[in-house]
Amino acid sequence: MRQLKSITTLFVTLFLLGQLLTGCNPPGDTRTVPVQESTTATAKTWTIGMSQCNLGEPWRVQMNSDIKRAADALDNIQVIFKDAQNDTLKQRAHIEEFVSQGVDLLIISPKEAAPLTPPVAKAYQAGIPVIVLDRAVNGEEFTMFIGANNTNIGEAAGNWVNKTLEGKGKIVELKGLMTSIPGHDRHNGFMKGIEGSAIEIIFDADMQWLEPNARKEMESALARFEDIDLVYAHNDPGAHGAYLASKAADREKDIIFVGIDGLPHEGLAYVEQGILGATFEYPTGGAEAIEYSLKILAGETVPRHLTLSSRVYTKENLATGGEKIGGE
Ligand code: FRU
Repeated sequence: MRQLKSITTLFVTLFLLGQLLTGCNPPGDTRTVPVQESTTATAKTWTIGMSQCNLGEPWRVQMNSDIKRAADALDNIQVIFKDAQNDTLKQRAHIEEFVSQGVDLLIISPKEAAPLTPPVAKAYQAGIPVIVLDRAVNGEEFTMFIGANNTNIGEAAGNWVNKTLEGKGKIVELKGLMTSIPGHDRHNGFMKGIEGSAIEIIFDADMQWLEPNARKEMESALARFEDIDLVYAHNDPGAHGAYLASKAADREKDIIFVGIDGLPHEGLAYVEQGILGATFEYPTGGAEAIEYSLKILAGETVPRHLTLSSRVYTKENLATGGEKIGGE
């Protein structure tokens, strides 16, 4: 009996030793064996969660397609897209879902700054690298911000308007969503651009980046004011909405329309057609977001802010590719 016991002990000891040396699980054990993680960015497929605030505007569709194109060109990046349909609460939930899903990196283009700052900070604190794209959040709790300088774009628009109107005139300002940072910056920059002139903002409204709202607001402006020289809209859909309202009132020929975004099939086409006097390019940063995601995932140090440049397009310079605006 004692002999049998010691033979059994010997077998068990040998078996366990074998397990230790080969690293195999006992037969029937369904636990997953941790695979040796590769340390290079090229060997692993990384999963990126992309939280888009809405896909109702051509510019955001372009951003997603820029991200997709850049990611598709690489074989180690997979992007999961979520569309919050312009609903801040939905976008908060999407970020939380990405965090609990354990994505390797998060890209977010937030609808609004204040309500989306805490979930972004929480993801970052949980150790997930976060790239904030185009619309900023408050504070600095993210890995990197990528976007153009909206204050510089607003100021360039103000300078252009000042020059075009020769320092005087009555204008309508159709603002982007004022709970988002680009709306503020495009307004403040513009005010700097027209500073010291006799240009007067006779009507302003928050059209929340949306063409139908811009059209409605412009109808009110047209009903109230007989003399409007120019409309400065914070994006091209807004400028186009204002144009449509003016055309319906048969007043579009008396007014100059200025917008921001400069997409080839939107703003640039409007300039070409003579609908807009000028548009200012607002790059999506989609390709850069993937370029920098790779660097972050490979453990490289990246700048906290990457400022993208912008160009102004008018009928005169469209054929020659526009003109770079000042600032950074
Ligand atoms: C699209 C958009 C653009 C604008 C940007 C600002 O949602 O409104 O037209 O330039 O967002 O964040």
